Amino acid sequence: MTQSGTRQADALTDAVEAPSLDIVSVTAGYGAHTVLRDVSLRAGASEVISLLGHNGAGKSTLLRAVAGVLEIEKGDVLFGGQSQLGMGSAAIAQSGVALVPQGRGVFPTLSIGENLQLGAGVARNVTDRTRVTLDFVLDLFPALAHRLHEDAGTLSGGQQQMVAIGTALMASPRFLLLDEPSTGLAPVLVQTMLDQIRSVHQELGIGVLIVEQNIHEALRVSDRAYVLRLGEIVREGPAATLLDDPDIWGLF
Ligand SMILES: Nc1ncnc2c1ncn2[C@@H]1O[C@H](COP(=O)(O)OP(=O)(O)OP(=O)(O)O)[C@@H](O)[C@H]1O
Ligand SMILES: [Mg+2]
Repeated sequence: MTQSGTRQADALTDAVEAPSLDIVSVTAGYGAHTVLRDVSLRAGASEVISLLGHNGAGKSTLLRAVAGVLEIEKGDVLFGGQSQLGMGSAAIAQSGVALVPQGRGVFPTLSIGENLQLGAGVARNVTDRTRVTLDFVLDLFPALAHRLHEDAGTLSGGQQQMVAIGTALMASPRFLLLDEPSTGLAPVLVQTMLDQIRSVHQELGIGVLIVEQNIHEALRVSDRAYVLRLGEIVREGPAATLLDDPDIWGLF
């Protein structure tokens, strides 16, 4: 992040500490198919948390439940200590929880600028912050800065991921949920992307929960991690501890 980027971040950081996210004994699934069983996870504003697990473990399902896209059968999700139950995805987004779903989700026939503008449409304090937020996003992802008028569909996978994250940031989130942000990226770009996510956390002072398949890289930029297996949390701890634990690989 450049000096001007840091100044922009200062202007975007709320005076009060960003809220933490508490997932409390959540059970959820699809109709009769229960996927998550009694899942609890805490993510503070001062943390980057990794959520790891094999394919089909329920990682995306958990993020969907937190974002209100999927109904929770049992348990609760607290954001800043307030229950989000029954609020619906639009109200949860308004409260500041932003989900960047798996598979990017940019609008390919809209320009990069128009995609970013869509994010600003759900911002909490629209006018004053929009320009500063845009400057912050373009400073974070300089590759987008000179291409604002180009269709998002013409970008590389990594650049589309930047647009997806940038669009979420335009809504001035107070907590960021990222579902496999590095999918499809070359190893060197995976590192860069996760470093950029770490710097979003540091500069904006907001909590981040990342679902990742790149376990090493995710742990490298995280403070703590949880491992989900068959819909249950089977391991949690400081990222450094998990990185040093040879038994961790048996969980995937
Ligand atoms: N829309 C859906 N309807 C019914 N079942 C679903 C739906 N989406 C996911 N599932 C099922 O829920 C389980 C968990 O899926 P989920 O997508 O949460 O896993 P995941 O950990 O994100 O996997 P991946 O690493 O492959 O993204 C799987 O058994 C999957 O088949
Ligand atoms: Mg998934």
